[in-house]
Amino acid sequence: MIKCLGVLSSGEGSNLQSIIDSTNGGILKGLAKVVLVISNNPNAYALKRAEKESIKFACVERKSFKDEESFNDVILTELQGMKVDIVCLAGYLRLVGQRIIRDYRNKVLNIHPALLPKFGGKGMYGCHVHAAVVKSRETVSGATVHLVDENYDTGKIIMQREVRVFENDMPQDVAGRVLAVEHKIYPEAIKILIGDLNKNL
Ligand code: GRF
Repeated sequence: MIKCLGVLSSGEGSNLQSIIDSTNGGILKGLAKVVLVISNNPNAYALKRAEKESIKFACVERKSFKDEESFNDVILTELQGMKVDIVCLAGYLRLVGQRIIRDYRNKVLNIHPALLPKFGGKGMYGCHVHAAVVKSRETVSGATVHLVDENYDTGKIIMQREVRVFENDMPQDVAGRVLAVEHKIYPEAIKILIGDLNKNL
């Protein structure tokens, strides 16, 4: 049975796009489809991408709720309402609620723009990651797709791919190289997870 993906994104949504493209005509065709896109940011371009692709989307803003729990409960209800099988965090900048992790145990994926466990953890997102990589004079960086548990960036690694870091690189040079790799490995990792889920049926 085709797996229903729910994607959470706070911004640009280029990883969301690569996932959609791979379900339309790439390695996820016939295996998965994106049925729901959720953002906590009303200005996220990810929401526009969903609209263009005629995918159901929702904006759930933290400030509309009294606490984290009620905010996350609405997200969980949206995911369940669309019968989402796998939750994909793609540039989602909030910690996912405990109930979502529990209800979707081993079915929540995240992409991180570095080779975890290096350069992970709270505050390590976006340009902060690449700036730290350049500052510590790494010669390789890369991207990691991992399962999400209750903490930041600590769940089981599903896939990693390296990129070179050159001596005169600026953080944005590394970011561009890593993002290109992210777009390839996220659909590949989703395919691996679907294979695992089907085996354990
Ligand atoms: C990516 O670098 C991803 O690894 C990180 O945030 C960025 C999001 O990019 N978590 P996009 O929104 O998918 O274009």
